Amino acid sequence: MGGKTVATLSDGFLEIKNGGGFALFPTPVDSEKLHVFQQIQTLSPQSYSINDFDYYGSISDFTGKAFDGFGKLPLPESVTSQMANVTEEITAGLATHLDPTETDAWITIRFQPTSHAFDTPRWHIDGKMFTDGTVPKIQYKIGGALFGPGTLFYDIPPEKRHSFAEETTDPGIQFYNGLVAGKDPNVLNEEWLNARKLVDKKVPQENIVQGSSEFMAVFAVGDPGTSGFHSEPNMSSSGNRMFFSMVPGTKSQIEELRQKFEQHNPNTKKTNRM
Ligand SMILES: [Fe+2]
Repeated sequence: MGGKTVATLSDGFLEIKNGGGFALFPTPVDSEKLHVFQQIQTLSPQSYSINDFDYYGSISDFTGKAFDGFGKLPLPESVTSQMANVTEEITAGLATHLDPTETDAWITIRFQPTSHAFDTPRWHIDGKMFTDGTVPKIQYKIGGALFGPGTLFYDIPPEKRHSFAEETTDPGIQFYNGLVAGKDPNVLNEEWLNARKLVDKKVPQENIVQGSSEFMAVFAVGDPGTSGFHSEPNMSSSGNRMFFSMVPGTKSQIEELRQKFEQHNPNTKKTNRM
């Protein structure tokens, strides 16, 4: 089972391909350059026109400039070029594992201001990204905080997975995505909080691993038996956070993902189809 810190993304990929879970790997940008992102850390949330920005399309066509619509002001050149650099380095790190048809990606940046929304963690696994296609391998996501606190991961023992999956039989709780059925997960109602608390009680503090801007994660998604179990970190006093994630796939897989997400969130997502 995954849950290690490894030397490279390539090692992390092999780790989760063989055992599922998650692996932390050094963010493939030197720490000096990582600091460029902090230029936008102290901007107020009002400086952003949207909180989530999604790019669906060709990896080689991606430039950080695709994210310019994210802020009310254009992002500094150094920030957009570093975003492109992170994407390039991740792609290079995966190179030997990518099928030649896996030319596209869903790339997200998510701005999360300081809040109490995750004082109780939202433990969950991510659902399947797309229908399994001609490239039959595990589905996975790469993600990390470019600034602010890193994602929490729980290296869940295989024998415990079953009991977490059983939570799906509890009223209103869905294992996938930590959603309360029919409720907006961003609204902290009592039912939602109780559902989170129930799951959080089962997670031993000493088995929680946290990423950082220096360590991103690669984690399996879409299968309760193998997926990386994770949550947003506590953001009550940490300052703003910017989360970056990338899911590579074939052109048709990424198009399938785009259509699915846009259907679910027609008003909150902004799409760049470059
Ligand atoms: Fe997630």
